[in-house]
Amino acid sequence: NTPLRLGIAGLGTVGAGVVKIIARHGGLLTQRSGRPVEIAAVSARTRDKDRGVDLSPYGWEDDPVALAQRDDVNVFVELMGGSDGPAKAATEAAISAGKDVVTANKAMLALHGQALAEAAETAGRVIRFEAAVAGGIPVVKALTEGLAGNRVTRVMGVMNGTCNYILTRMEHAGLPYDTVFDEANKLGYLEADPMLDVGGIDAGHKLALLAAIAFGTQVNFHGMELEGIERISIDDIRHAADMGFRIKLLGVAQMTGRGLEQRMTPCLVPATSPLGRLENATNMVLLEGDAVGQIILRGAGAGEGPTASAVMSDILDIARGTRVPTFGQPARTLTTAPAARVSTA
Ligand code: NAP
Ligand code: HSE
Repeated sequence: NTPLRLGIAGLGTVGAGVVKIIARHGGLLTQRSGRPVEIAAVSARTRDKDRGVDLSPYGWEDDPVALAQRDDVNVFVELMGGSDGPAKAATEAAISAGKDVVTANKAMLALHGQALAEAAETAGRVIRFEAAVAGGIPVVKALTEGLAGNRVTRVMGVMNGTCNYILTRMEHAGLPYDTVFDEANKLGYLEADPMLDVGGIDAGHKLALLAAIAFGTQVNFHGMELEGIERISIDDIRHAADMGFRIKLLGVAQMTGRGLEQRMTPCLVPATSPLGRLENATNMVLLEGDAVGQIILRGAGAGEGPTASAVMSDILDIARGTRVPTFGQPARTLTTAPAARVSTA
């Protein structure tokens, strides 16, 4: 069978993780997808950095756009990050050059995913992004495949591990926000721009993508009610606990009679509920469908192994020739969501 040949741009946490899985599980991947999955070439900013994996068998490009356009690349794997700049330029170049794309880049997709998906469709290519939402949790596939026979009624969850770490650590250690923020920073949890995490933006990007898939609408990040955790105090957390609740940065998307409601806000959840029992940097997504009822997915939303695992699932789907729709039509959007901040989930 003809090999599927990858061009991987970005060899940081996720990119190096993908290279390691391919090196470790080559035979298994061929068996599962029906064709060999090979790396044609890679790209990063610095060529001679030790990334804990042997890159000598692969070609090298300094410029990710050149990588995306190589003749020996079938699938461009974008793992650089950033909503614009090289990630977007190289993704557009890959689509124009007739390549399928796999990316973990929620920031790029939340802002430009609609246009990129439409360009890919026009070119007869696909753009896949399982790793962009909740890392290792296969939530995109759960929606597009597992729940394909349902009308999805609601999507909700905790989709930013850093915020959940900060909130649970504040509660358990009785420490103020600023102290735990510094701790999270030292542990390397925070994005280069910490506001993406604590401002709720990163989680909002993920919710916008899930909502578009779940409800067959266009990605509409700007139509979301968004609030981060920076103003949550230890007193808020204690008062919530006194009433039997915990505070979570909770995303909720649902289609109402008035349009699509999307909000990512701190929310009270019962301490004994599945969401209320979520500790540390773990993610949890609850999906509700008219046939299946509620299902709950829980796991690592970040990190080398979990995120690379999700990238690999997209690569194998492309190797198998699976084609699934991504985003849909414009939806009337509620820009002001109801003020409910207590979840019964
Ligand atoms: P990272 O560790 O910072 O790695 C980024 C990589 O991109 C580095 O190898 C860097 O090269 C390379 N790069 C940056 N700019 C480049 C350019 N102009 N040309 C070529 N290469 C360039 O990032 P990451 O954590 O792996 O994240 C990658 C993507 O996955 C992001 O979109 C992120 O949001 C997403 N994601 C990450 C996680 C996670 O747990 N880390 C989870 C879910 C999704 P150098 O190494 O030479 O600097
Ligand atoms: N900063 C993100 C988080 C990384 O904390 O969940 C994974 O998307």
